[in-house]
Amino acid sequence: MTEEPGTELLNADGPGLTRAAALLACGALVAFPTETVYGLGADARNDDAVAAIYAAKGRPNFNPLIVHVADLDAARTIAELPAQALDLADAFWPGPLTLVVPIRPDAGLSPRVTAGLSTVAIRVPANELARRLLAQFGGPVAAPSANLSGKVSPTTAAHVMAGLSGRIAAVVDGGSCDIGLESTIIGFDPEPTLLRPGGLPVEAIEDLLGQPLRGSQPSELPNAPGQLASHYAPNAALRLNATEARSGEYLLGFGPVAGNATLSASGDLHEAAANLFDRLRAADATGAARIAVAPIPDHGLGRAINDRLRRAAAPRD
Ligand code: TXA
Ligand code: MG
Repeated sequence: MTEEPGTELLNADGPGLTRAAALLACGALVAFPTETVYGLGADARNDDAVAAIYAAKGRPNFNPLIVHVADLDAARTIAELPAQALDLADAFWPGPLTLVVPIRPDAGLSPRVTAGLSTVAIRVPANELARRLLAQFGGPVAAPSANLSGKVSPTTAAHVMAGLSGRIAAVVDGGSCDIGLESTIIGFDPEPTLLRPGGLPVEAIEDLLGQPLRGSQPSELPNAPGQLASHYAPNAALRLNATEARSGEYLLGFGPVAGNATLSASGDLHEAAANLFDRLRAADATGAARIAVAPIPDHGLGRAINDRLRRAAAPRD
């Protein structure tokens, strides 16, 4: 019997990216860094490669994927961007913004990418390695976060390996992700609608559009398919808005709440976002039955942090 080939850890250099692009071209799965989280990439035109993403993650096939492209021109070969989507793309691409827009009939994507929807989620990542990989590969790359479905998203190559080693061909090791939270997702139906808060603050989008986003009230339910209530879940149970640890709890602090570890001692939301998933993993690794988390202000990146924390704390059944 032959041994399962291991997952290659590729350097963030010319040879590493050349290898990564060659693997994508032959239909293999390659995890790579973006400015938000690590993505699990496959050629978005290759049906078998896209099917392999769902299999490797254990992801339900009704949860569509984000297509990553090198620039706006490439996005326009795949989708029709309404005027407000173009405004957002001009202002915020490359960057942590995903636009859900009508797919073109001649897009050439595997239908599995969109899970049969008539819209497609697209983004142009800002991370230098991601951009070089997309340029070298020369095609659209479907990439969800590179974690097992329902688990905490990866912000380092080691996080990717912890969940997917042996299940994917390779990981490009680009160090820690700058932002640390997934992209903000905006749809148009036809009003601009917040489908998932993320690395681009809602306030920046509303300022640019000059109007409030639909769905941006915290009380409204999330609209993105596959946005399950329980998500981003560590093994431990979570308790939110905690100012001190109860017996047996591991406390994640923020600002004045010190805790066993802190998301940001100075109360900086960017630092807290960048630390969030790594600190949740580290807290989990202590074996604590429960993780308590200090209150996080609900503005700017804090909205996306609180969204992830609420999902991590949601009942899992
Ligand atoms: O920052 C990110 O967005 C990362 C990096 C790798 O780019 N990717 C990411 O992918 O977070 P994933 O698969 O974990 O989340 C994709 C989200 C899902 O909630 C899915 O429901 C939504 O995008 N989505 C994809 N296509 C959609 C569509 N046509 N309509 C509505 N939502 C869609
Ligand atoms: Mg994900």
